[in-house]
Amino acid sequence: MENRVIIGGQWGDEGKGKIVDSLSRKVDWVIRFQGGANAGHTIYVGDQKHVLHLVPSGILHEGVLGFLGGGMVVDPWSLRDEILALEQKDISVRDRLLVSATAHLVMPFHKRLDELRESRLKRKSIGTTGRGIGPAYLDKVQRTGLRMGDLLLPRENLERKAIEKILTANEVLCQFYEADPVPAKVLAEELVVLAQFLAPMIVNPYEALRPVRDGIASALFEGAQGTLLDVDHGTFPFVTSSNSTIGGVLTGTGLPPRSLGEIIGIFKAYCTRVGNGPFMSELLGDQGDQLRDAGGEYGATTGRARRCGWFDLVAARYAADINGMTGVIITKLDVLDKMSTVRVATGYDLDGEELTTYPVLSEALPRCKPIFRDFPGWEKPTSECRRLTDLPANARKYLEFLEQELGVHIQGISVGKEREAMIWTETGVST
Ligand code: GDP
Ligand code: IMO
Ligand code: MG
Repeated sequence: MENRVIIGGQWGDEGKGKIVDSLSRKVDWVIRFQGGANAGHTIYVGDQKHVLHLVPSGILHEGVLGFLGGGMVVDPWSLRDEILALEQKDISVRDRLLVSATAHLVMPFHKRLDELRESRLKRKSIGTTGRGIGPAYLDKVQRTGLRMGDLLLPRENLERKAIEKILTANEVLCQFYEADPVPAKVLAEELVVLAQFLAPMIVNPYEALRPVRDGIASALFEGAQGTLLDVDHGTFPFVTSSNSTIGGVLTGTGLPPRSLGEIIGIFKAYCTRVGNGPFMSELLGDQGDQLRDAGGEYGATTGRARRCGWFDLVAARYAADINGMTGVIITKLDVLDKMSTVRVATGYDLDGEELTTYPVLSEALPRCKPIFRDFPGWEKPTSECRRLTDLPANARKYLEFLEQELGVHIQGISVGKEREAMIWTETGVST
């Protein structure tokens, strides 16, 4: 079976979790490679809802192995709680989840620093998830962070090392932010207990992923966030702190390019963004509210209302190009079922000039006004459709337009949150 990479094509929350779940039934490994508990991937199995933040979405299939790659920042407190919550639902995790020893730890002081930094930025805040992601990656690149492998140290060494890091963080908390320190001894002791729980899962990634590298085991790579939140390629500075685009798979796993296989971009049939920053095709007012209500657009991690807008073809083409997408999946088509008109941003007006290619520079993006093309809505339910031919003609026309303009086959269309609410296509949607 060919490996697959699942990448978010927009600003996250495209429905990656549902698609990873759908595609991972027969794979050996589902591998996360970047991000941390800022991700919120929602999957419905029958009536049961699962929201996964760190554990890969494939874990819901018996026998599938999960891997947390070294490109991630892992909050060991959250990881333990997520594992225990799944085990409460009779989903075994500990015996089939491995964590790279090179993944960095998110400590409670990272979360505190995340919050304090955001409140200091006031109106210019990023609107982070508050999961300590930026500060943890900062500790990684300034080469001061703790890593998963440190949890394998003898107890006294781990405790000493943790206390040292916490005391340094306390200096920043107290002196720079004039905030309270976090309790060093208590947290170090908690970390020692967590280390005992997590130690059996912590592995050398070079050895553990050898079967994938050798092509003996199949892998599905589960991206978190989305292309426009990538620290290098997204709407900087309103981005996350990792590479959520294709390069992140290589650096975040240590696997070679030949292990990647198909690169599948996930796009909603419209657009959402949670947090601050430019959103070129955003709908404000009633229309935005209508989309939010129809799509249930509230954050899986923070519960925040997501900003909503029409499909942005300019940004989507950019995402398809820079990731080298070999296929795309369009999700939440059913959310548009009641719209009398469906719009697509096919270009931007930048200071009176029409752009059809993504301008990349953050200075330009907030000034880009969308140029819309209108499509008649289909005004019929699509959630029971399972074949392309079941879809209303106007829905097919809309998808054909997206496929032609993206220049990449639409391999699947999701028409509901349930596992089975999918239309798979062999050769795309265009006739
Ligand atoms: P992710 O972060 O990319 O995994 O996406 P989220 O789970 O944060 O958000 C996607 C939301 O849309 C979840 O609540 C899913 O259950 C839901 N969802 C996914 N696909 C569909 C779909 O095709 N139709 C509808 N109505 N909901 C969907
Ligand atoms: P999934 O995997 C949507 C956004 C935050 C904020 C910015 C930086 O569910 O698609 P961070 O906490 O990472 O420092 O926040 O990125 N963000 C997401 N938005 N889905 C996500 O993940 C996100 N993870 C981070 O809202 O704007
Ligand atoms: Mg999400």
